[in-house]
Amino acid sequence: MAFLGRKSRPVVGLDIGANSIKLIKLQYKAGSYALKALAIKELPMGVIMAEEIKDRDAVIFDIQSLIDQTDPKMKDVVISISGHGVITDKVVIDRKTGAEAEQAILFEAEQRAPFDVEDVTLDYHIIRDDPETNKMEVLLVAARNEFLKNYLDLIIDAGLKPVVVDTDAFAILNAYMVNYDIDPLRVIALVDIGFDVTNITFLKEGYYHSTRDVSNGTRLIFDAVSKEFRLNQELTSNVMRGELDSSIDQDMFKATIVTASEELVAGLEVAISYFKSYSGAEKIDWIVLSGGGALIPFLPEMLQAKLSIPIEICNPLRNIEYDPDMFVEFRPENVAPLLAVPVGLAVRRV
Ligand SMILES: Nc1ncnc2c1ncn2[C@@H]1O[C@H](COP(=O)(O)OP(=O)(O)OP(=O)(O)O)[C@@H](O)[C@H]1O
Ligand SMILES: [Mg+2]
Repeated sequence: MAFLGRKSRPVVGLDIGANSIKLIKLQYKAGSYALKALAIKELPMGVIMAEEIKDRDAVIFDIQSLIDQTDPKMKDVVISISGHGVITDKVVIDRKTGAEAEQAILFEAEQRAPFDVEDVTLDYHIIRDDPETNKMEVLLVAARNEFLKNYLDLIIDAGLKPVVVDTDAFAILNAYMVNYDIDPLRVIALVDIGFDVTNITFLKEGYYHSTRDVSNGTRLIFDAVSKEFRLNQELTSNVMRGELDSSIDQDMFKATIVTASEELVAGLEVAISYFKSYSGAEKIDWIVLSGGGALIPFLPEMLQAKLSIPIEICNPLRNIEYDPDMFVEFRPENVAPLLAVPVGLAVRRV
């Protein structure tokens, strides 16, 4: 339980993405958060691909260099898992608290095929606790032990101690809730476009509804831009950030992005229509876009037009105080959309 006004220890969120590792340190005090550290390290190409760590040593090396440049004494981190290693399912049970609730949740989990196996680690989130119906809605989260252990071992081998393991979807949701008021009358899709994975978290009636991953991200755009303009990784990165605007043909750049993101658009359309039929929602009122995809020139406008859903760019630092002079490498507001996952991890009470 967090008490208003009490100062707690800062919390570090570490997000290991296919394109970059991101670190955020937040201090909670008097009901608000302050940004104490922010670091981003791009990984060499191919180190993590399609949610699989291909070069473990390279990831460890980059985590360590990120820690060294931020605070070499750092140990405790909150991390997240997502993708194939995680299964989620929603259950409704009678309202209970404490150990009784845990027992009921465990019982429910055991009844469900993907959860009753021996080789998963279970966690849960209470999504909705309704005194009127006397029911509560619980999201079960199961991680495959082998997957989880590999991941934890990597963090430990980098010299860190994972104190909480969350999921990307919940981190994105928590980052949103800390910074925005959820309008219960609107159906919202939090869409985080990463390099290999796009995570979509649907909110309905003011609560988490469901999440879906699309196995597609900005890598296709990255590769297409690199090929079209014959650029190496570094130059492609610069172009994708909207730098070097003058040296490449903007119409051709835009056309390349449109063509390369067709699969991503199709994946989003499938996820949205699945959500609509499964939830009974008529439409999605708006999309809150985060991840690197939110920063790629032309992409947000193009998605808005193709999906016919208004898009707002997520600012996960909206309600977080910071001293701009503390950050010399880049201005936090310029990279804010990239930080939904690490901010969401760092707002966890440890
Ligand atoms: N300022 C920026 N810094 C870093 N990447 C940026 C920036 N602007 C745009 N991008 C683009 O964002 C994309 C990476 O997005 P993101 O960092 O969200 O992916 P990731 O978290 O590493 O991957 P995943 O979530 O799929 O594991 C890259 O294609 C990169 O070119
Ligand atoms: Mg990511």
